[in-house]
Amino acid sequence: MHSSLITILLLATGGTIAKFIIPQPNGPYGVSLIDAQVIDESRRDPYTNASARIIPFTVISPAGPAGKCNVTVQPYMPNATASFWEQVIPSPTDGWNLSISFNNTFTQAELSLCKPVPAQQNEYPVILFSPALGNSREFYHIMCMNLASQGYNVITVEEPGQVGVLTYADGDVQITDISAIESDDQTLIAAVDVRVADLDFVLTTISSPSFRASHPNIQLNTSKVAIFGHSLGGAASLASIVNNTRYLGGANLDGQVVGTPLTHTTTKPSMIFGSTGHNQSLAVLNWDTTWKNLLGWKVELGLEDSVHYSFTDLPFLLETLGLENASTKQILAPLVGTIDGKQALKSVVGVMHSFFQFVFSGGAVKGVSVVNEAKAVGQVAVLNGTNV
Ligand SMILES: *[C@@H]1O[C@H](CO)[C@@H](O)[C@H](O)[C@H]1NC(C)=O
Ligand SMILES: *[C@@H]1O[C@H](CO)[C@@H](O)[C@H](O)[C@H]1NC(C)=O
Ligand SMILES: *[C@@H]1O[C@H](CO)[C@@H](O)[C@H](O)[C@H]1NC(C)=O
Ligand SMILES: *[C@@H]1O[C@H](CO)[C@@H](O)[C@H](O)[C@H]1NC(C)=O
Ligand SMILES: *[C@@H]1O[C@H](CO)[C@@H](O)[C@H](O)[C@H]1NC(C)=O
Ligand SMILES: *[C@@H]1O[C@H](CO)[C@@H](O)[C@H](O)[C@H]1NC(C)=O
Ligand SMILES: *[C@@H]1O[C@H](CO)[C@@H](O)[C@H](O)[C@H]1NC(C)=O
Ligand SMILES: *[C@@H]1O[C@H](CO)[C@@H](O)[C@H](O)[C@H]1NC(C)=O
Ligand SMILES: *[C@@H]1O[C@H](CO)[C@@H](O)[C@H](O)[C@H]1NC(C)=O
Ligand SMILES: *[C@@H]1O[C@H](CO)[C@@H](O)[C@H](O)[C@H]1NC(C)=O
Repeated sequence: MHSSLITILLLATGGTIAKFIIPQPNGPYGVSLIDAQVIDESRRDPYTNASARIIPFTVISPAGPAGKCNVTVQPYMPNATASFWEQVIPSPTDGWNLSISFNNTFTQAELSLCKPVPAQQNEYPVILFSPALGNSREFYHIMCMNLASQGYNVITVEEPGQVGVLTYADGDVQITDISAIESDDQTLIAAVDVRVADLDFVLTTISSPSFRASHPNIQLNTSKVAIFGHSLGGAASLASIVNNTRYLGGANLDGQVVGTPLTHTTTKPSMIFGSTGHNQSLAVLNWDTTWKNLLGWKVELGLEDSVHYSFTDLPFLLETLGLENASTKQILAPLVGTIDGKQALKSVVGVMHSFFQFVFSGGAVKGVSVVNEAKAVGQVAVLNGTNV
């Protein structure tokens, strides 16, 4: 049922805008994708000083056996978010100074999904995901759809005030210059604390009877929950497992660690998965100090031929859309690495799936299976850890 080809639809009206539909993920389940938001009225928004903190998020859930679901096509990102990134990513002043036009790249991308099957959602555990500082949560949705398709509810949590562009449910667009957050350690630590609180608020709220009653398509069982994230979101994931007893385990994808994981220990299963050249010997990442505080089962991995943003959808997406090809590969390498896009997705999803299987199994699955998957999936170096 799953064509490996990309469907190209020329719209009847207008005629000039080609839509690229990213095929459904490869796992046993089709998945649904639902945007929502919660409002924390107990906190002022630390970035806008609004009287409450709005936290948008997306719930990606299994929705029946792959190939048998009721298919629906949804945009990869809201238009305003897509066109912002199309301008910013290649730009010499804001982004990477790439001599390639990204115009229409993200706007044209659509996802092949399933209509939600809420009655089945509570059979699967919950995984929270926190994006990199600056990055829209949508840049991880292909990765998270592929993970969800293995049998998880994956929730990507946006961070207003810490993301370059945010299109709210009502269409309001918030543009944020995040450079001030990177300026010093104290500001970064405060940003991680905001994330830990936001993630905790989302987790607490989605399982409340009032949320379930007002969101018939989001019926989650949060008795089993774990967390991972990219970059500052990876730091927030480790901070979350240190701070909150509800998380059963956590993984940091290529994030410099700041805050509580440097001063507090945890015995929960944990992972650090870095890009090429990022490991415990690179002092700025603080992974050596973090490592000593991870007292439970742990593993340190490296994604080969990768760079920091290889842990987003971009390697797969740019290759799939044809923007990355033989003649543009070198130009795009600083952004996505030289790893094959399909392999990058396969490696990260394969490793995360085996990690979460272990975390949620309550001892039935052994940690060594994570190490074995890392060795088997391709382009992953096993650097350190419990069963290495
Ligand atoms: C935030 O808003 C409150 C209430 O309007 C006000 O008292 C406070 O001074 C504001 N803080 C900042 C930093 O603007
Ligand atoms: C597809 O939609 C139909 C009509 O709403 C419904 O009866 C059926 O159960 C759905 N199938 C799946 C797999 O969700
Ligand atoms: C987004 O842009 C596409 C094409 O550029 C257009 O077809 C679509 O209607 C737009 N969607 C919204 C919600 O504006
Ligand atoms: C961007 O790249 C071009 C061509 O490589 C170069 O001439 C230009 O100086 C660069 N601009 C910036 C701001 O780095
Ligand atoms: C890309 O879009 C921007 C803004 O809409 C426009 O200024 C620019 O000329 C476009 N570039 C190309 C190569 O079409
Ligand atoms: C996390 O725990 C540390 C240490 O107990 C505490 O200082 C910090 O405020 C907590 N952060 C959040 C967001 O709960
Ligand atoms: C939630 O899942 C747990 C086990 O993971 C189970 O014991 C519990 O009955 C479930 N709750 C509901 C409401 O389905
Ligand atoms: C660890 O990182 C250092 C510094 O980036 C690098 O020189 C070294 O090759 C890396 N080691 C491995 C095993 O990747
Ligand atoms: C490679 O991608 C670039 C940028 O989208 C495009 O201009 C070029 O035609 C593509 N080349 C091939 C061989 O597909
Ligand atoms: C694993 O990390 C520990 C602590 O940093 C270090 O002492 C040990 O040599 C590392 N093992 C390998 C195989 O690199």
